[in-house]
Amino acid sequence: MDGRGRVATSSSGPDDLQQIHRRPLVAVDNTFLGPVFQRPLEHGSDLVMYSLTKYVGGHSDLVAGGVIGFREAMKPVRQLRSAIGTQLDPNTAWMIMRSMETMALRMRAAAANAAIVAKFLAAHPKIASVNYLGLLADDDPRRAVFRQQCGSAGSTFSFCVKGGQAEAFRLLNALQVMKLAVSLGGTETLISHPASTTHSGVPAATRARLGVTEAMIRLSVGIENADDLVADLEQALAAV
Ligand SMILES: Cc1ncc(COP(=O)(O)O)c(C=O)c1O
Repeated sequence: MDGRGRVATSSSGPDDLQQIHRRPLVAVDNTFLGPVFQRPLEHGSDLVMYSLTKYVGGHSDLVAGGVIGFREAMKPVRQLRSAIGTQLDPNTAWMIMRSMETMALRMRAAAANAAIVAKFLAAHPKIASVNYLGLLADDDPRRAVFRQQCGSAGSTFSFCVKGGQAEAFRLLNALQVMKLAVSLGGTETLISHPASTTHSGVPAATRARLGVTEAMIRLSVGIENADDLVADLEQALAAV
């Protein structure tokens, strides 16, 4: 995507080759907020990476990745792709093109649901904290960055239950609408326990430093009826 928001695999930008070589390349994984809610090229990054498996594909039925960026920064990416042959197969490419027609609609609907779910969780007595960009305190320094760079808080965030792994597992096991799975960005709400799944390979001390505790649960809110999602969490929290 270039500075005017056009989707492209490469474009000329303000950074020519000479400028790029005078400083380290800035590459951003923009999978979570996606091209709809955050455009890192407009904020000075040279390359933007996506797991297209997530919001861009959006239906949990394909695996793909993408990189966009200014022409010079893209050269080595293109060369490596040619060398190792990571071109996408035609059927997956077609599914992604079809998914992109509804990407903005899906992402906005999921983000609206996420705002409702996050507010519900933040007010619940059995919840210790909610790590949702839309709920950052006014004096939190991250809020200024969020307001400057992001068009929305998106729909993937984490929260911590009061207690530890036992309480988190009781909540997860009692859910009936939300599906227990580690992916994100699909139309259906997925929920997971990072410490025992996605982040189980990270040393415990590092997990603790990053705040990935046993009480943490990650939520990728989908486009279901928000009332159903809140009701599901409400009944599951009653079991905690
Ligand atoms: C932020 C982010 N980037 C990249 C990836 C890798 O994606 P893929 O599953 O398409 O290889 C993931 C997967 O969870 C992710 O969450």
